[in-house]
Amino acid sequence: MPLILIASPKGGVGKTTLAANLADTLRRQGRPTLLLDLDPQNALRLHFGIPVQDGAGYMADRAARPDWRAHLRQVAPGLLLLPHGAVELRAALENALAMEHDPALLLAPLREMLADPSVLVVADLPPGPSAALQATAPFASLVLTVLQSEAISAAMLAEVESGRFLGSGTLPALFAGRLHFLLNGVDLQSRLSRSTAETVAQHLGPRLLGAVSRDEALAEALAYQRPLLDHAPASAAAADLRQVAAAVEALLPAPVARPVQPAAPAQPQHAAAFPLTASRGAW
Ligand SMILES: Nc1ncnc2c1ncn2[C@@H]1O[C@H](COP(=O)(O)OP(=O)(O)OP(=O)(O)O)[C@@H](O)[C@H]1O
Ligand SMILES: [Mg+2]
Repeated sequence: MPLILIASPKGGVGKTTLAANLADTLRRQGRPTLLLDLDPQNALRLHFGIPVQDGAGYMADRAARPDWRAHLRQVAPGLLLLPHGAVELRAALENALAMEHDPALLLAPLREMLADPSVLVVADLPPGPSAALQATAPFASLVLTVLQSEAISAAMLAEVESGRFLGSGTLPALFAGRLHFLLNGVDLQSRLSRSTAETVAQHLGPRLLGAVSRDEALAEALAYQRPLLDHAPASAAAADLRQVAAAVEALLPAPVARPVQPAAPAQPQHAAAFPLTASRGAW
């Protein structure tokens, strides 16, 4: 039921890395999670061993296979991934326009995903304002805004806090209250990184849910296409991620226990893959 958006006003700050590894940490803590890739870069799948040349996904193939459930991949016990799919620039622009004209394109599937109270949906967004962010923000329990631990983040704090990157107008301003923050790439050996982190922490107070250290293990885990907690469970970033996951958990409603499913007759692979088939064995 709850929806967490991972967003940022600036690109390349670690959204996809944190979305993948936060979802993986939460599912290990007993929170069944669906990871939703809303970014045409289609990079979330790479954190879970899906081959680069496998470009299938719901936005890429929506004309041929409109049922989003048909695109779900189970990437770990308790963790389903809905890849965006590989799209050319032109198709990405057309998709953004289509979403702007008809938000139901995204909102109808999203409503179905959120209808299952036992599943957390974590969505990775493109950098900056986007049609996907504007459409989904009203449904989010949390908008986790990732900031890099660098001077520009401290300088831009007031702008970021205003929530203007959620879109223009009064509606996005209403959702600014759901903004929480994550500092990424904190380097305690660097005076600048450290003093930026301190400034941001003082300014944001409890809205800063956590900080993740600059740690090569995160980039290495991606190189091996596996989650950090598999690749380097004792790393500094792994410890940080566990703390972030605990802070996120504290803001979410308690997980809903899944009822035991009675044995059901076999169904076609694509049908009801979520939540029913997923609940048998996947979670
Ligand atoms: N804490 C960290 N320590 C070291 N490297 C990191 C850390 N966080 C992310 N990275 C690396 O930084 C790069 C960018 O990360 P990522 O792709 O997650 O950013 P992004 O915000 O999703 O980018 P975009 O805005 O393009 O979607 C990746 O190579 C990733 O491995
Ligand atoms: Mg990204």
